[in-house]
Amino acid sequence: MFPTDRPRRLRRTPAIRRLVAETSLEPRHLVLPMFVADGLSEAREISSMPGVYQHTLSSLRTAAEEAVAAGVGGLMLFGVPKPEDKDAAGSCGADPDGILNRGLRALADDLGDSTVLMADTCLDEFTDHGHCGVLDASGAVDNDATLTAYADLAVAQARAGAQVVGTSGMMDGQVDAVRTALDDAGHADVAILAYAAKYASALYGPFRDAVASSLQGNRRAYQQDPANRRESLREVSLDLAEGADIVMVKPAMLYLDIVREVAAISDVPVAAYQVSGEYSMFCAAGERGWIDRDAAILESLLSIRRAGADIVLTYAAAEIAAKL
Ligand code: PBG
Repeated sequence: MFPTDRPRRLRRTPAIRRLVAETSLEPRHLVLPMFVADGLSEAREISSMPGVYQHTLSSLRTAAEEAVAAGVGGLMLFGVPKPEDKDAAGSCGADPDGILNRGLRALADDLGDSTVLMADTCLDEFTDHGHCGVLDASGAVDNDATLTAYADLAVAQARAGAQVVGTSGMMDGQVDAVRTALDDAGHADVAILAYAAKYASALYGPFRDAVASSLQGNRRAYQQDPANRRESLREVSLDLAEGADIVMVKPAMLYLDIVREVAAISDVPVAAYQVSGEYSMFCAAGERGWIDRDAAILESLLSIRRAGADIVLTYAAAEIAAKL
């Protein structure tokens, strides 16, 4: 019997493969997360994330300029304060002279509207206990007290030049609280990238090195249980109802089923965050010669797009954008 149905016809040459490719990966789809640290005299490479740096204000400006020149769709900035500036309330986050807000101002001055400048709107980088919120008397994260803090953070970030705020703390009601605060402060045009479905993942380890996290314990009382799928759909529905402009799934690769389902229900753009541990695994296996790091990263980004993400946050954004 002759095989009459021959899918290989459409794989024969690079040109025909290019013609029929369903999914594309373009520089504009990629957002680069960046870290700016207070009190450094020069940029410091994060040992568990080769090629990723804690930046000084000046190295941040250079690296941001390069990423934008490579064509990335946006930048997501995280702040790393001096250890002595952390407190239980994370107050240096909303301080206009805090490191994250200084970084945002510098990038907004340099880059204006030539990129999309985003800020992480969370307390964990700024609290001395390392949790994403303020604690109540029993030591648990106090949801509603944290909402007030997020509102202050978001307004400070908008004033510093953030065009998008990324609500990443997984408090209930955070999108609504931040939207109301931004609108009341005259920042109705600042968008909210809602970390809608964010799991309590083992893959955040290298990020915690990157931000010199003080966390003891874990975040399972506010981030989602990896066992759950429906809960993500509930979280996304709530964030959409509260006014999220973009919804995000995090991490990406171990949660592609969630990316797919969120893409099916969302009427706003969907982002996925390829987190620190995902990036570090590619680098580590690549360094050992066990996989081709660059090819594997490219394939992973394509898979995240194929699952349904419009936007991918990845530490490889600038290098990949430069190659595409
Ligand atoms: C919390 C936050 C985390 C990341 C981004 N924002 C992690 C956490 O819950 O500790 C992780 C990003 C990464 O691993 O790359 N504000």
